[in-house]
Amino acid sequence: MDRLQNVLLIAGIGCFVFSVLLSGLYPYMITDAREAEATIEEVAQDVSTDFCELKAAYPVVFAKAFPDSGDALTFETLSTVPANDPRRAKSEEVWRKTYADALQRGRDVYISDACWHCHSQFVRPVANEDIRFGPVSTTRQDNNALQRPVLWGTRRIGPDLTYEGGKRSNDWHVAHFFDPKSTSPDSIMPNFSFYFRDGFEVRRRIDPEKADFGGLSPDVSYPFPGLHDTESEADAALKDIAANIDSNLASEATRLFVAEAQGPDEKLICLIAYLQWLGTWQPPALEGDE
Ligand code: HEC
Repeated sequence: MDRLQNVLLIAGIGCFVFSVLLSGLYPYMITDAREAEATIEEVAQDVSTDFCELKAAYPVVFAKAFPDSGDALTFETLSTVPANDPRRAKSEEVWRKTYADALQRGRDVYISDACWHCHSQFVRPVANEDIRFGPVSTTRQDNNALQRPVLWGTRRIGPDLTYEGGKRSNDWHVAHFFDPKSTSPDSIMPNFSFYFRDGFEVRRRIDPEKADFGGLSPDVSYPFPGLHDTESEADAALKDIAANIDSNLASEATRLFVAEAQGPDEKLICLIAYLQWLGTWQPPALEGDE
């Protein structure tokens, strides 16, 4: 019996050492040391439209999460700025910095809240995984600071997320985190409603006739972007919107009102930015490649 205990102990230590070697050293062994690891700034060069849309959809929480992002113009503002206006270049620079910051923080949330416990980020060359998830993972695509160490995950309870970027809309992710069953009826993913905070929003009441036509309730209106911490802040925003509304939309101003609402917090904004980035970065072509 004593002998068996010793054998089991040694086998256990052996397995532990093997797993440390595999997870710790293996990534370095298979990475081509001649090729420099891409920095976070490099992988955040192409700011995704999904990220820009987060700013447009949640301007208040976005400004709070990224206090230096004030000069990052939204698509709407950009369309009114001439091509040679210096604000364009400035805006691009701010976008890239903000994006890099969001990706890093989103990855931190992914780690701290143990998403990796149920999700993998590696498409294996077996079991037709590429048909289900996308091209088989390569070491080169993980050769960047944001994927070090690579979040392979421990088990695959949910789907692989290697190519999650762009697969779903921001709104889908928001709804899914609040209540996974709302988008995926049989989901066993826990809800992450703690990523949501209470606040006040400016909303628009739908014309009862139009609402009726669309099968909607006139009180359930499309929200105007922005979740304000207090009712008085939302009130001020409402007055601002009402005062600046286009004259041919003047009648809209009478339909604006302040309502209690819940929206994503800073952590969730960063996490969604990170998810929308996954799989979108391509390593630079090697010499001799097509
Ligand atoms: C207990 C296991 C579990 C945990 C923990 C978990 N998930 Fe999931 N996740 C699932 C399952 C199962 C699904 C598939 C059903 C669904 O869509 O909800 C899923 C689906 C998803 C999807 C949709 C993928 C797609 O495009 O179909 C995303 C994105 C996602 N999870 C992200 C996360 C993030 C980010 C976290 C951490 C904050 C997390 N998950 C934590 C189990 C989990």
